Amino acid sequence: MAKHSVIFQPAGNRGNIQEGKTIMEAARKLGVGLQSTCGGHQTCGKCKVKVLDQHGYYKSKKGQEKVSPPTEKEKGLLGEDAISEGYRLACATQVLGALTVEVPPETQVSHEVISKTAIQKAVTLKPAVRKLYLEVPKPQLGHSQGDWERVSGVLKEHFALKDLTIDHEALAALPKALRSGNWKVTLTLFMEKRVIRIESGLAEKAFGLALDVGTTTLAGYLCDLPTGEVVATEARSNPQISYGEDVISRITRTIRNQEGLNELRSCLFDSLNELVQAVSQEANIAGEDIIDATIVGNTAMHHIFLNLDPQHLGSSPFTPVLQSPMDINARDFGLSICPGANVHALPVEAGFVGADNVAVVIAEEPYNQDDMMLVIDVGTNGELVLGNRKKLVSASCATGPAFEGAHIKFGMRAARGAIESIKIDPDSREVRFKVVGDDRWSDQAPAVKATGICGSAIIDATAEMLHAGIINRRGAFIKNISNPRMLYNKKEAEFVIAWADETDLGRDITVCQNDIRSMQLGKGALLSGANLLMRQLDIENVDKVILAGSFGLHIDRQNALDMGLFPDVDAEAVYSTGNAAGEGARLALVNTDKRREAADIARRIEYMELSLESDFQTEFVRAMIFPAPQKVGEK
Ligand code: FES
Repeated sequence: MAKHSVIFQPAGNRGNIQEGKTIMEAARKLGVGLQSTCGGHQTCGKCKVKVLDQHGYYKSKKGQEKVSPPTEKEKGLLGEDAISEGYRLACATQVLGALTVEVPPETQVSHEVISKTAIQKAVTLKPAVRKLYLEVPKPQLGHSQGDWERVSGVLKEHFALKDLTIDHEALAALPKALRSGNWKVTLTLFMEKRVIRIESGLAEKAFGLALDVGTTTLAGYLCDLPTGEVVATEARSNPQISYGEDVISRITRTIRNQEGLNELRSCLFDSLNELVQAVSQEANIAGEDIIDATIVGNTAMHHIFLNLDPQHLGSSPFTPVLQSPMDINARDFGLSICPGANVHALPVEAGFVGADNVAVVIAEEPYNQDDMMLVIDVGTNGELVLGNRKKLVSASCATGPAFEGAHIKFGMRAARGAIESIKIDPDSREVRFKVVGDDRWSDQAPAVKATGICGSAIIDATAEMLHAGIINRRGAFIKNISNPRMLYNKKEAEFVIAWADETDLGRDITVCQNDIRSMQLGKGALLSGANLLMRQLDIENVDKVILAGSFGLHIDRQNALDMGLFPDVDAEAVYSTGNAAGEGARLALVNTDKRREAADIARRIEYMELSLESDFQTEFVRAMIFPAPQKVGEK
């Protein structure tokens, strides 16, 4: 079949693409990140691109179509006007000729701004690996002992270690290492049982990698194992985003497409290996110097990483293939660290409460406290753990991706140009905002223009619109407000946050009625989940709220309380811990007792299936209402 040259602008990536492939598939092949919430089902409209032929025209001069005709879904989502200007959905449009594809700013997957540094807690060091320096007797004629047997003899005599096994690749490296090191070698020993690496002479460097595989973000923490310190961190977007922003789209991919799981794993491991390379370069070591690893992630990411079929997570009763912790070999899974290294996957709790939540719990240790602690991890899904040393309960709630900026008209993730904070004057209803990448407020002439709104700012917008009387407690826009920022369109009311000249889009950025509804659904899910967990423990108040994840770092705590995102507590009792899941992975990396603790706590936490509660729906609807006006704005 014919191939056609496709160029993506402004990135400039180019290559030959088989005729009939979609622009989305071309983008994936050429390493161009495009937004997608629906996983290519032509329902979200986030993958909008502008198609030009190589001379800059939508159609070639000869009148020949360069792409497939617009589908009905495209016409509905984009409108005839946009289509006549060359705008198309990348997931719907097939390549039929040589093209240039312009990716508008709002469609580009820019690198998210992520809190790369986990808040490091003090921990006793008890890693799974240690290094042993050995001086091994030379072989002698008449003493017919193999190299490994002579090494084993030294291990038994000087270190009281016997019956060890050795990784085959390490064994293959042994003769050279012994001879080039003048019979002195360093062994890396895993769990006092297995030799996983042999180096010539004295080699003291020992590093481990804690990986947090999120639906949206991959984060890696390179630790110096003898000190437990993080020496390099790296975070990047999960490339699976082009298959859909939420776990359900990814699971659906594995069900509908025979190669789905392989595709998801292949792009994931490519990105993880780039991450390994980046942290290794930062610490000036080789990837092979990483001799141990831990991995956490929600249940779907955990399954995809481990090559376990995630399809049964997608439907009731949401059964995982495995809940227990699992140890795998790095080489078998294609992770570019020391080939014989072990990778420890933390256990999952139940359904969507995954290993990332277990990691948050071992980092925050509510089971060692008297205070009643509510741990909230908000991502595409919301995960809650409530309790103290007496009892812990957990639940998963379908917050939807609104808190991550998806399903919001101008929503985007927290990348450069995303509006991250919003203030609205309650009297004049004038707006000030701040974007990621510039510390100045919009009235201080910032250099970076706005391209969308991220989750933290949508919370701000909701609370501030409540304060300013733009929306009511039920989330409806108040009618007939006379203000240039209020737009009462036929379809729905909107409030202008950024005027066109303050944006990179050339049009106003607004918050519309549907956006407020999406926030209400997310907030309703989170708050009703917390309320039902409180009822389960028979308590009326919580003492502390812990916001895990980078989402928590950016939100205005008072605004979150004012819009009733979680149960009412003092703003001082709300803590943001940064990437607590990453921190849990680090703790399990440097202390094997934490791995046992994780396995134990994952079985002890009582999982509550919220949808089985008879009054779940009533609670949910009640929790969608914003708090009473007298509470709003008590700052
Ligand atoms: S419409 Fe194309 S990815 Fe959603």
